[in-house]
Order: sequence, then structure tokens, then C-alpha cells
Amino acid sequence: MSFRTIEWKDNKVIMIDQTRLPGEEVYNEYGDFQSVAEAIRGMIIRGAPAIGVAAAMGVALGAREIVADTHDSFFQQLSNVCDVMARTRPTAVNLFWAIERMKRVAETHRDKDLNAIREILKAEAIRIEEEDLAICRAIGKNGAVLIKENATILTHCNAGGLATAGYGTALGVIRAAHEAGKKIQVFADETRPWLQGARLTAWELMKEEIPVTLIADNMAGFFMKKGEITCCIVGADRIAANGDTANKIGTYSVAVLARENNIPFYVAAPVSTFDLSLASGDEIPIEERHSREVTHLSGFPVAPEGVKVRNPAFDVTPAKYITAIITEKGVVKGDYLKQLVALTRQ
Ligand code: MRU
Repeated sequence: MSFRTIEWKDNKVIMIDQTRLPGEEVYNEYGDFQSVAEAIRGMIIRGAPAIGVAAAMGVALGAREIVADTHDSFFQQLSNVCDVMARTRPTAVNLFWAIERMKRVAETHRDKDLNAIREILKAEAIRIEEEDLAICRAIGKNGAVLIKENATILTHCNAGGLATAGYGTALGVIRAAHEAGKKIQVFADETRPWLQGARLTAWELMKEEIPVTLIADNMAGFFMKKGEITCCIVGADRIAANGDTANKIGTYSVAVLARENNIPFYVAAPVSTFDLSLASGDEIPIEERHSREVTHLSGFPVAPEGVKVRNPAFDVTPAKYITAIITEKGVVKGDYLKQLVALTRQ
């Protein structure tokens, strides 16, 4: 890929600044965990798997910043670092999954000296990043077989290389189909209010010369009804035990429209996006973001000052609308409850 979403370099975390795309391709450098937490909150980096990687690297940076004479003091401060990272964004479970993995690895090596633990944490964060890339490629391979020759694929938000360590989940499937030589094209919903589709998905696909057409969110039904959409593929921020899936606000509407028009609706996500502790999607915490994201476009007001606004960042698509969930371990359909559990045990 011609860009790098996030990397650990010379004990710094480097991220492409997604708030400045598509206008400028700028890479920011972070040397402390607080600024990584701020970058996650401020959407410099976004997308469930990518914020998981960022949180892990933030924890590794934090471990390096800790000044401690004793192991107890080190572990107490490390727990504070993890709490700061965990308070950044509430919906994508990959963030909490990555933080828990970092905590677990530190605990496993508690008997080592503190510098060794710091190095182990750094290595683990880098491993999470490398694994994510491999996982996305496997999702791509598993999903590409579902994509028909000459397909027009509708996607919502950005579940691409920018939302992961690279390659993407939903866009990973699209990339893999394209690499396999299938003649496909993508319709990208602009994805109001933050415009992940217009700013990021369109940018990323155009860079790789995968044919993409940008549409406003309210046009999806029009094109489905005309028979122009072959299938829909989206990513996920959290998948409950019954298959209900939280993803970018507007995903639910796309899924309902797809069902009405007999179009397959696929979710592509790594197993780390499953949250089997939640029985259904009703329990998934939904982030509400600042009203300014709705009232302003690129800093310009598009609504009267003082208007009342709601801005949920995600919605939940009930499992009944999901044709299949594509993971790195295989594709699951039908009775999600049994199959998601089986996949996590593999
Ligand atoms: O608010 P964002 O941009 O972090 O939301 C991102 C999404 O909803 C993605 O579709 C999801 O995280 C999957 S990314 C592979």
C-alpha cells in the first residue's frame, strides 16, 4: 500500500493524520501516551482495528514514560495509562481487546526487570500491528469468493487500510477481489457527518485505481432499487454474541434497504471485534460526538447557530439483516450465536 496508517519507529508512534485527508498526506509523530490518547479521541486515527493498534502502542509508550522504583509502583502507573487509553472512545471493542492483551502480557512477565517489561510491551504492540495486517489479508481472501464478476459493491464509512494496520476489512475483501482480477466497482456512501466515505474511502480506492463512485448517503436506496448494487460490505466496531453489529451511523439504514431490495449485506471484521460478553446489540455502548460535526462542514456552519443536535457515531444492525460475517477464520452465516463462539475457540 502506498501509505502507512500507523507504525512504531525509533520509540515514537507515527500516524497518518486522517483529519487532514484527502487534502494533505501528513504524518504526525507521538512520543507520549497522552498525545496518542488525544489522537484517538480527535480521530487523527480511527476505525476499530486501527484504534486497537494505536491503544497498544500508547500503552507501550506509557510504559517507557513511567518512573518507578518498585514493580508495584510500575504496575499501578501502567494501570493508569491503560485507563487513559480506555477512556478515548467507547464503541469499538478492539480498543479494549488490545489494552487487555497488553495488560495480560505485562502480568505474565511480572517477574522480569522493568526495562525488560517495557521492551516486551513494545514488541507486543508491534506484534498486534503486524497480526492485524495478516488478519485483514485473510479476511480479504475469505470474502473475495463472495464477490461476483462485474459486481458493484456499496460500502459505508471507511473500513479500509486507514481503519486497520493496512489493507482493510470491508475494503480488504474489495482489494482481494480486485487483485484476483475480478472486474468490480465500488459505490462509497459519503458517510455524514464525518465523511469517512468521501474523504477516506474514495481517497484510498482512487490511490489504488479501484473504480469508485461517491454518492451521498441518501442515494443508496435509489441505486439499490434501480438494480445497480450487487452487494453491500461494511466493517464493524463491535459484534454481540447474537451477531448484532455496531458500525458507523447509517449502516442500519443501508442493511434495511439491502434486505428490501434482496441484496446481500456482508459484515467483514476480525474476531477481535466480537464481544461475546454481550448477549445482543442493545447492550453495545454508542458514542455520541460533538454537535459541531453535524452543524459544520470543514469549519463552515451549515445549520443555524444554537440548533439542537443529536450525533450518535454508530448504530446497531440486527443480525437478521446480515447475510454473512466474514472473518479471518472463515465466513459465518445463519445461527451466529453458535458459530461466533466456535470461531473464537479455533
Ligand atoms: O468513527 P470511526 O471512523 O472510527 O468509525 C469507523 C467505522 O465505523 C468502521 O466501519 C469500523 O470501525 C470498521 S474499520 C475496519
